[in-house]
Amino acid sequence: MEQHHPYEKLISVCVNFREEGSCCAKRGSVEIVETLKGYVKKNGLKGRIRVARSGCFGLCEMGPNIAVYPDGSDQGTWYKGVGPDDVGSIIEKHIVPLQK
Ligand code: FES
Repeated sequence: MEQHHPYEKLISVCVNFREEGSCCAKRGSVEIVETLKGYVKKNGLKGRIRVARSGCFGLCEMGPNIAVYPDGSDQGTWYKGVGPDDVGSIIEKHIVPLQK
């Protein structure tokens, strides 16, 4: 049953919303996930890269939180406090190399 996920990259973005207190959705994570999804779709990478909306990672004060998992052969990368201006660097580091 156990196996590596089937994507070259799995990018999990917390979009959890809480009425009270901090949450990633209030800090712009929904826009971030849409930007990432749009990039993947526009560049024909669906099926290779999965951008998934995630529930709470339990680190709400640090959000928006994003976890990037490679193809199972290495450890993933964790991002906290991601803002709209950071999305480009995440794309550059994790997605663009797969396009070359
Ligand atoms: S709301 Fe995103 S980590 Fe909790």
